[in-house]
Amino acid sequence: MNPIIRVRDLYKIFDSSAGTTPVLKGVEFDIDPGEFVCIMGPSGSGKSTVLHILSGLDAVTGGSVLLAGRNLKDLSEAERTLLRRTQIGYVFQFFNLMPNLTVLENVGLPLAIQGQHPAAREKELRALLGRLGLGGREHHFPHQLSGGEMQRTSIARALAGGQPLLLCDEPTGNLSQKAGLEVMQLLRRVCDEERRTVLLVTHNPRDATFADRVLFLVDGALDSQHALHGPNLTVEQVHERLAALHI
Ligand SMILES: Nc1ncnc2c1ncn2[C@@H]1O[C@H](COP(=O)(O)OP(=O)(O)OP(=O)(O)O)[C@@H](O)[C@H]1O
Ligand SMILES: [Mg+2]
Repeated sequence: MNPIIRVRDLYKIFDSSAGTTPVLKGVEFDIDPGEFVCIMGPSGSGKSTVLHILSGLDAVTGGSVLLAGRNLKDLSEAERTLLRRTQIGYVFQFFNLMPNLTVLENVGLPLAIQGQHPAAREKELRALLGRLGLGGREHHFPHQLSGGEMQRTSIARALAGGQPLLLCDEPTGNLSQKAGLEVMQLLRRVCDEERRTVLLVTHNPRDATFADRVLFLVDGALDSQHALHGPNLTVEQVHERLAALHI
């Protein structure tokens, strides 16, 4: 089986007026189609940066990223955008909702961008919103939502497009225990039932137990020696590993 993601010797150094920040220093991993993989690591360790790079939203300093067999470096900007739209559903850490669109319109946006008519799928979109506890919020604008409602809208948008790869950056960060658990169960279900690949970034040990594998990003690299392998991971196992790695 060819991996859906193959990352080799990935380096990322941010150069700005504020100075030079080396963040990723030789990150390597593969993810197979249909896998559910979690990345944990300290705040500022580069987890969101990895997801940005995988989606082609950020450029690498060195190394290679293959997505669905295509090396991002070999693609034009337009080809990378097309690959992102067709392959990736993205739950952004800070939601990235369109402020001038309603919840329903935001969630329908990936379909519209793919050239479909969201109106033709409205029943399905409303059902998805219902599953995420957003029934009755369809016509609200983002500024009329709570943080958790914005987060769930962003999750619905990532799921609505039907892309095979879901990149989820702290998808439960603003949710209650119960709402967060429901989101994790939903992600696990789309992985198991629709064979969509999930790459989850989280600080939450409970969320990590839903994964098939948990990788730890420490000092700019993924510590493969300390990776956890499921199924049936426990919160205690995750806590123990985080403590051992001083995360
Ligand atoms: N555009 C940028 N310019 C300069 N430095 C940046 C930029 N984006 C990120 N960084 C730096 O890169 C490092 C990694 O950031 P990143 O957002 O990937 O961390 P993270 O692991 O997702 O953290 P958190 O758990 O807090 O979300 C941080 O030190 C951050 O300051
Ligand atoms: Mg982050």
